[in-house]
Amino acid sequence: MTDATERMPPAGEIVLSLRKVCKQFGAVSALTDVDLDVHAGEVVALVGDNGAGKSTLVKVLAGVHTPTSGTVTFGGRQVTLNGPNDALSLGIATVFQDLALCENLDVVANIYLGEELGPFALDEVAMEVRTWQLLGELSARIPSVREPIASLSGGQRQTVAIARALLRDPKLIMLDEPTAALGVAQTAEVLNLIERVRDKGLGVIMISHNMEDVRAVADRIVVLRLGRNNGIFYPDSSNEELVSAITGASDNAVSRRHERRHVQRPNSGGGTS
Ligand SMILES: Nc1ncnc2c1ncn2[C@@H]1O[C@H](COP(=O)(O)OP(=O)(O)OP(=O)(O)O)[C@@H](O)[C@H]1O
Ligand SMILES: [Mg+2]
Repeated sequence: MTDATERMPPAGEIVLSLRKVCKQFGAVSALTDVDLDVHAGEVVALVGDNGAGKSTLVKVLAGVHTPTSGTVTFGGRQVTLNGPNDALSLGIATVFQDLALCENLDVVANIYLGEELGPFALDEVAMEVRTWQLLGELSARIPSVREPIASLSGGQRQTVAIARALLRDPKLIMLDEPTAALGVAQTAEVLNLIERVRDKGLGVIMISHNMEDVRAVADRIVVLRLGRNNGIFYPDSSNEELVSAITGASDNAVSRRHERRHVQRPNSGGGTS
């Protein structure tokens, strides 16, 4: 693990702080004593194996699950999230993995979904203008905001979901597997989008199983294993370090392959560390 003292401190102030957060589902401990800090203008990648507790953590922060114990500090004060509306009104936005878009509705309607009667409701023209503005801030390439979602590509859908999350001007945005279903070009576009969101000064939490994507965009990489913190890494940490933190095993297929390569080609300069 890289020594944190060698690092530049993250850009902005702390937006979110979790301390000793636990979540029990009956006898199952999904989260145990989890600590997490996210700064303004920082992308934190949350990684871990299946069942590590990533989605549970996101759901705690989205107000879907109440933590069993521990504290959540947001914007400098300790908060209790009793439902999704609490999270949204504080400025915590979530893009869930399934995106929750309506196929048959157009981009504008999707961005304003659920807001028709709420404080963000506007007339059709104003909604369309605001939609273009949100997409413009993301430099997103969407041909028309009057196209139904069904006619958009996976990357464009992800873009719409992110734009929708930005409607309420959040301070923190959480993205669950934003590139999981995307091809190479669309993945690059969504990663660019995440950088733009960071550059607007938001804190970003991104869940991903793809270490390449994580390295490309994350400022810090937080590993969860069996519901506990298992190290903080940086984009230049080696694959071996990351994989063993994720799996809990130093003797795994990746490190064995790495060693083999070094034995075979000692001077090749290849490998990952
Ligand atoms: N609503 C629930 N009721 C009971 N157990 C749950 C519930 N949600 C999650 N769990 C358990 O909590 C643990 C963590 O699950 P979680 O979905 O957070 O993992 P994850 O890191 O998101 O995994 P994946 O990469 O597969 O999405 C698992 O053991 C899971 O079975
Ligand atoms: Mg999950």
